[in-house]
Amino acid sequence: MTQTIQAIRGMHDILPERIALWQTLEDRARAVLEGYGYQEIRTPLVEMTDLFERSIGEVTDIVEKEMYSFADRNGDRLSLRPEGTASCVRAAVEHGLLATPHRLWYRGPMFRHERPQQGRYRQFHQIGVEVFGLPGPDIDQEVVLLTRRLWHTLGLGKLRLEINSLGESDERAVYRHELVSYLEGHRERLDEDSLRRLHSNPLRVLDSKNPDLEPVIAEAPRITDYLGEASREHFAGFRAGLDAAGIDYVINPRLVRGLDYYNRTVFEWITDALGTQGTVCAGGRYDTLVARLGGRPTPAVGFALGVERLVALLASAPPPVTPGPDAYLIAVGDGPRTQALSIAETLRDARPDLRLICHCGGGSFKSQFKKADRSGARYALVLGEDEAARGVVGVKPLRAQGEQTEVALDQLSDFFTARC
Ligand code: HAM
Repeated sequence: MTQTIQAIRGMHDILPERIALWQTLEDRARAVLEGYGYQEIRTPLVEMTDLFERSIGEVTDIVEKEMYSFADRNGDRLSLRPEGTASCVRAAVEHGLLATPHRLWYRGPMFRHERPQQGRYRQFHQIGVEVFGLPGPDIDQEVVLLTRRLWHTLGLGKLRLEINSLGESDERAVYRHELVSYLEGHRERLDEDSLRRLHSNPLRVLDSKNPDLEPVIAEAPRITDYLGEASREHFAGFRAGLDAAGIDYVINPRLVRGLDYYNRTVFEWITDALGTQGTVCAGGRYDTLVARLGGRPTPAVGFALGVERLVALLASAPPPVTPGPDAYLIAVGDGPRTQALSIAETLRDARPDLRLICHCGGGSFKSQFKKADRSGARYALVLGEDEAARGVVGVKPLRAQGEQTEVALDQLSDFFTARC
């Protein structure tokens, strides 16, 4: 027997039975984003590897271990995008979008060669925003407000907002120095991963999930004690904005994020309902990245939400009722079968919003009628030789009591306008 081929580990098909939840999330996110004046941007799935090395940082898990990179036929080093921020910045620089403030959003698949587990995949999807040209804490507040509105429209409560400030690079350098000497003093208690990061990327030690390290991390110096005046003011402004909007949050001084481009505000929305992979949305400010990628210095802030994780949360709520089609058109006999598709097209021309399935594949009246019923349609439309000859269709309600009636073909759209 020929062996079947399966999807790549960590990359998943999204089956029709799950698609309603994806569409609910995508549609509501789009409506909220457009409501706040964000414009969609679409960038390629593949970029120069250099772009991610220069933006995410060479000493990060993503760049060191997780990128799908390959040499193009002409020798260029390319990578599947592991996230969307770098591509958005590249596109904004390349197409001159930085002269005035821009609010952009995007959605699509991202790729990271992580160890797959529940909530962590190798191909996963993000919906993200990037705002360019606005330096104040008001826009940091806006992107948080926007996410809160999205949770409300999706009926998701109980998400925890954690925030922190990473200050500016000179402030981080002083902090980093203090942190390294503190961690050096506890060297014997660090695990292999943390020892590896101790000098290359010591802030990431704070992010360790190893419970043995908790006491060492709890006593470590805090970045928020090393902020300069401007960073402190920015953070205070951001917090005051959240307070004024009635948004609860927790300041987590250990929140350092896994990508190197951040400064000042960082935040994550977290749920306890999904186990260890509970961060459903994360982002922050990255005021130096545009210039590092060759653009004019431009402040920026953004976030991305993990679609699979939010869909998992939505799936644990009562399932949304997926409405069946409005009508299912049955045709019995050679003539009616040929005619049925054009009747359906005429009806769709008149009522493009009508959800109409036209039976294909033949079969007896009985078997077609069973399929109509199983589709969940409100009405079966029946076209036999007799109906076709008289220019009518039989209409039988499937979800309510009622006899089969007849409707003239040229009255069919009026019939549905009165009922659907
Ligand atoms: P990130 O924290 O790497 O940030 O990813 C954002 C979100 O994507 C995570 O909170 C999580 O929900 C989801 N996610 C990440 N990796 C996976 C995975 N392997 N499987 C499933 N879901 C995953 C960024 O990507 C930044 N670009 C966000 C940003 C935009 N910051 C500023 N602008």
